[in-house]
Amino acid sequence: MSNVRGGILDGQIVIVTGGGSGMGAAFARRLAADGAHVVVNDLDEATAGTVAEEVGGEVAVFDVADSSAFDAAVDRIVAHHGRLDVMINNAGIAPPRDEARTMLNYENQAKRMEGRISELIPVDYTVGLSDEQWDRMIRVHLYGTFHGTRAALRHMTPRRSGSIVNISSILALRPAPGAVHYSAAKAGIIALTKSTAQEVAPFGVRVNAVCPGWVDTPLLAPFDEITRAAIVMQTPVGRMARPEELAEVVRFLAGPESSYCVGEVFPVSGGWV
Ligand SMILES: NC(=O)c1ccc[n+]([C@@H]2O[C@H](COP(=O)([O-])OP(=O)(O)OC[C@H]3O[C@@H](n4cnc5c(N)ncnc54)[C@H](O)[C@@H]3O)[C@@H](O)[C@H]2O)c1
Repeated sequence: MSNVRGGILDGQIVIVTGGGSGMGAAFARRLAADGAHVVVNDLDEATAGTVAEEVGGEVAVFDVADSSAFDAAVDRIVAHHGRLDVMINNAGIAPPRDEARTMLNYENQAKRMEGRISELIPVDYTVGLSDEQWDRMIRVHLYGTFHGTRAALRHMTPRRSGSIVNISSILALRPAPGAVHYSAAKAGIIALTKSTAQEVAPFGVRVNAVCPGWVDTPLLAPFDEITRAAIVMQTPVGRMARPEELAEVVRFLAGPESSYCVGEVFPVSGGWV
């Protein structure tokens, strides 16, 4: 698929944030396969470079939480290429593994199955969050998506054309204990998507969101085997998603086939939500 050109996105300029890994890399490959010129953003220059080379695109290294860096990068890309057609706000992080709390959670689940509710010990995921952990999670996901949306709209609205795809999560629709900051940020992205979509739809710009279920990417590296097995067991389709399966949905939303999709929120969850 690498460097293959030609398709419905011929000549379109696309930015994929967090494009050096996982789903972002799959999005870059899928959009490039249909002819788009993909700008691969990431904090990690090496991984972004590898993906950009593979898809015949270019690299933009910046932190999506840094609004001036984001603005400067988008302005530079538009100055160079003359347009921006698609923005995929995808960059994201997961909470680091917390061994002690994970073990305590397993012990609580065993007690719960035996009906020993009074013996449960508080895991304190929320109480244990520092200001810094909360702040960084919200900044990367919610602020990052806002920065990308605003920077893109500055160029898309005057041209009366463009598509923005925001990557939320099923944890926004069905929050689970253990990542309140992640779920809150992803839920915020849904409201941001719906609000901006209504604002700019009359001007030819579409904004939509995808809520992936559990996708087998490096983001889930902190998860142990028991947690992964539990996820698979609770997912009706019986497995995690491959990034390429999400890329098909993002490709649809990026292109003209989704012309009547405005502020829509698409769970792609294998039946989890
Ligand atoms: N994997 C899942 O199960 C899952 C489920 C639902 C939603 N998501 C969301 O999908 C998106 C992609 O996740 P993934 O699973 O492909 O993860 P991943 O870890 O494979 O890729 C994320 C990429 O984002 C980059 N990144 C992180 N912070 C950044 C920042 N501040 N600025 C620029 N780049 C940054 C990382 O370097 C990495 O290359 C994330 O927003 C994630 O929250 C993932």
